[in-house]
Amino acid sequence: MITRDIHYIGTNDDSIDLFEGQYVVPNGISYNSYVIMDEKIAVMDTVDKRKGEEYLKNLEKVLEGRTPDYLVLSHLEPDHGSSVQAFMEKYPDVTLVGNAKTFQMLPLFFQGEVKEKLTVKEGETLNLGQHTLSFIMAPMVHWPEVMMTYDSFDKVLFSADAFGKFGTLDKEEPWEKEARRYYFNIVGKYGPQVQAVLKKAANLEIQQICPLHGPVLKESISRVLKLYQIWSTYEPEAEGVFIAYASLHGNTGKAAQRLAEILKEKGCQEVTVMDLARSDTSEAVECAFRYGKVVLASASYNAGVVPCMEDLLHHLKGKNYQKRKVGLMENGAWAPCAVRTMKDMLAQMKDISVAETAVTLRGVLKESDEAALEALAEEMLKL
Ligand code: FEO
Repeated sequence: MITRDIHYIGTNDDSIDLFEGQYVVPNGISYNSYVIMDEKIAVMDTVDKRKGEEYLKNLEKVLEGRTPDYLVLSHLEPDHGSSVQAFMEKYPDVTLVGNAKTFQMLPLFFQGEVKEKLTVKEGETLNLGQHTLSFIMAPMVHWPEVMMTYDSFDKVLFSADAFGKFGTLDKEEPWEKEARRYYFNIVGKYGPQVQAVLKKAANLEIQQICPLHGPVLKESISRVLKLYQIWSTYEPEAEGVFIAYASLHGNTGKAAQRLAEILKEKGCQEVTVMDLARSDTSEAVECAFRYGKVVLASASYNAGVVPCMEDLLHHLKGKNYQKRKVGLMENGAWAPCAVRTMKDMLAQMKDISVAETAVTLRGVLKESDEAALEALAEEMLKL
């Protein structure tokens, strides 16, 4: 129960391997839905049809024989909208609530007949009895039809995908890491749109945030809003250096580890090293946004970089990566070319400062490479 009248009816999914077919979710994910019990009953979204049956049972239990009056659709992506079909078959007289874009997109995912629909605009309200809902358009956070809903009676913000995280609700884990990985991989591209909705939320008194994934937020609201402010403006969050490497035979990896040691010896408090070949790209994206300084180290491969490094850079560009200091390191036995390739890819991003010192290794890490690693570490700490 979220409040006396607002109930959680969502589901955990710990059998899913990849969210959106691409992001590893070792702790699964929750598909959240809520119901507001008043003179009129409003259901806030459905869930992924993978869990549709369980969801409808959860709803039925809370309804205690009553029938929902409204189904508010904040987002049609199938992890929330793919049970609308089953919901409408069970409750055909419900009024669907959405904005003009929602109803334009609905036929892409729902084949049945909609008997009643209510099209709402920014700031319009819907009275349920004691609870009055107002609607806040949040286009591209994370699809064009997304809207949030504010319940002024309980001061609850139903925030759609925003403020969500990976992981089911029954797994104990800190909020920030998986929320950051979720944010940058799901909506990282849309910082300006997140900024627009944060400005609207600033005018609301919010006691609880009910997102579509992850836990309901209460005590941590000011911290979470602060993090979203940092994330959506692409500002670095943590001091320190992130070193991401792509190594063919372990030599580039060894050099990356040595660089980390030198950075620590020189006083850098936090250095995170990641082997891109053995990490999910979404984790590397999360770290690359977390830190203000990043070193990319890659062996040369096919006259370019190792594919996992290319993949990371491709993802970062897609997520609007910017405002970072980047150091580069390459390895090549006969024609090192990774630095040039990485520089070309970074040049397609905004406001990226590349360190003048670039390290070129030839095969195994040697004593004679130490000076170059020292120089790169010093420049990274000065940038
Ligand atoms: Fe959780 Fe954009 O769907």
